[in-house]
Amino acid sequence: MPRTINTVSDIYILGIESSCDETAAAIVRSGEEVVSSVVYSQIATHQAYGGVVPELASREHLRAIVPVARKALEEAGKSYDTIDALAVTQGPGLAGSLLVGLSFAKALAFAAAKPLIAVNHLEGHIHAVLLEERQRGNHELEFPVLALVVSGGHTHLYLAERRDDGWIYHNVGQTRDDAAGEAFDKVAKLLELGYPGGPIIDFLAPHGDATAVPFPFAQIKHRDRNPENRHAPDVQRIDFSYSGIKTAVLRYVELHGMRETIEKRREALRHIANPTCEDYLAACGKQTLDLVASFQRAVVNDLVSKTLYAAREFNASTLLVTGGVAANSMLRERFEEQARQEGLRVYFPSRKLSTDNAAMIAAAAYPRYLAGEFAESELSAEAALRLR
Ligand code: KG4
Ligand code: ZN
Repeated sequence: MPRTINTVSDIYILGIESSCDETAAAIVRSGEEVVSSVVYSQIATHQAYGGVVPELASREHLRAIVPVARKALEEAGKSYDTIDALAVTQGPGLAGSLLVGLSFAKALAFAAAKPLIAVNHLEGHIHAVLLEERQRGNHELEFPVLALVVSGGHTHLYLAERRDDGWIYHNVGQTRDDAAGEAFDKVAKLLELGYPGGPIIDFLAPHGDATAVPFPFAQIKHRDRNPENRHAPDVQRIDFSYSGIKTAVLRYVELHGMRETIEKRREALRHIANPTCEDYLAACGKQTLDLVASFQRAVVNDLVSKTLYAAREFNASTLLVTGGVAANSMLRERFEEQARQEGLRVYFPSRKLSTDNAAMIAAAAYPRYLAGEFAESELSAEAALRLR
């Protein structure tokens, strides 16, 4: 039974996020001010494998969670007694990783006698944008709102609506296979460009010719036959697919005899403990730079054109673009340019809040706090949790 909480004063929520390879904790005031935000990244642990190793991720979360939460409290000048509530990512994500954050938050909520709020990670990404807009004094968004959540695990489009104090979401499109960030990571791995691939490709791409290699994308739209999406029965769904481009890059590598260049790069970088973007650039010839630039252009064009198609189809007034890939420079430029032409307002989180963090979890929890939507004691992690 929802309890209604009377709020006249500021509400401080401690958010906890551990769904993938970042252990994060943050204090957010009343869903509109980041008071502290601590992110412990496990990149160094997973780098050697070119991707997240779930068992290692859980172990690292276990190590980091207590110091990370303490640091977030300390930086905010708060204690477990002086916060108003806890919020934790319930899913989607890696089961073992989610479990660490969730068990910690549950135990803490019980011991400190504070309410606990369960948050969907994808809703968190959407609220990263809303939080920063509120922080800038922008409290009003024009509806309908279309949100693209584009990260290492997701390429999802949602129509978002306000209902009373809370938000509801309709999924109107998603990837059929790999997420866009996953394609960045896999292409970088194939070309020996380190992990995670997105930021490195973002850095390298302006040094290459983006028109050098044509990567055509199919238009994937179909009538929505899912009975759960009856709100828009005549509307087409917009699907994404990024496993094909990864294979196309592999085929290009094979056809153009690039194996040797890749091996040489691997050798050259093997002796550098933590290669920087400049180190990768120095180890890349024109052919590789042209290839990554063309890859990035193809993915960005596909994301932008399909999202804007959806915005027209749903008559959206506002577009939110969020998740790790929203940190991409070309993606931001293209969205801004094209949205402006269509009279659409587009918002992104700052680069810091684009990738996984806990401030977005605490911000998404605030409307739920106001509505008294607290988690039951038997709350469990849900690796495939859907957003609605
Ligand atoms: O949101 P996030 O931190 O974790 C997930 O929920 O997946 O996103 C991480 C993903 C990785 O695939 C990473 O390569 C990608 O976001 N990414 C980028 C950039 N920065 C991070 N992709 C393209 N350009 C970037 N600048
Ligand atoms: Zn994420």
